[in-house]
Amino acid sequence: MHLFWAFAQFRKCLGSPCFASFEGSCRRRWKMLNAAAADRNKEPILDVLRSRLASDRPLVGLEISSGTGQHVVHFAKAFPSITWQPSEIESQSISSIEAYREHHKLQNVKPPMYLDVSQSWENWTGLQPESCDLIVNINMMHISPLACTTGLFNGVGKILKPQGLLLTYGPYAFNGSITPQSNVDFDHSLRYRNPEWGLRDVSLLKTLGQENGLRLEEIVDMPANNKCLLFHKDSVV
Ligand SMILES: C[S@@+](CC[C@H](N)C(=O)[O-])C[C@H]1O[C@@H](n2cnc3c(N)ncnc32)[C@H](O)[C@@H]1O
Repeated sequence: MHLFWAFAQFRKCLGSPCFASFEGSCRRRWKMLNAAAADRNKEPILDVLRSRLASDRPLVGLEISSGTGQHVVHFAKAFPSITWQPSEIESQSISSIEAYREHHKLQNVKPPMYLDVSQSWENWTGLQPESCDLIVNINMMHISPLACTTGLFNGVGKILKPQGLLLTYGPYAFNGSITPQSNVDFDHSLRYRNPEWGLRDVSLLKTLGQENGLRLEEIVDMPANNKCLLFHKDSVV
């Protein structure tokens, strides 16, 4: 009799809204990927954004290659007046971003969109020319083919509003030289994994920026030998 009662209670519980919500939360947690580097660098990058953006202006922000979604939710909490559009090429990352978005219930983060940055900006579905005030790209350029870097600057030159800001973050080379040794080793390991990967030279990025109406205005030292590069859009290209 007790066993029958327990079984009936268990079945009732399975069908209850409470269980459905518990199950949904477990499924969501399962999809929420975690990158240790993103946990470490999200606050230092946010500090750079805080010091360059007016926190109460309603702005439109696009993140290119959002990865897990950890950055976009962190930035969205700090800047509720910015409407954020995360994007990714990888389906697992898109699921993770969506899971973070649902978990944090943030009204100012749009559903993640598929975006292959190596493609021409006309294929960046739904993004209009001069529609974004801010574009963020973290730790992508060195770990993707050069076509992603050139695509990034071509696309950002179109999508950013005049006076808009592009922030990129990562390790970089300067005039053909990489420092310190840990970044040299990292560059070798990337090129060993894929000959098309490797640290990008800031002089190349400056040139790509100029070709697309983006002026490199500031290089900010970041922890662990990384930098933030801040480009402003000068004019309509
Ligand atoms: C090292 S992860 C960085 C992810 C995230 N920004 C972060 O810092 O945690 C590099 C990211 O670049 C993305 N990526 C690679 N090729 C891409 C492409 N063609 N278009 C858009 N994203 C790309 C990968 O899917 C991956 O999420």
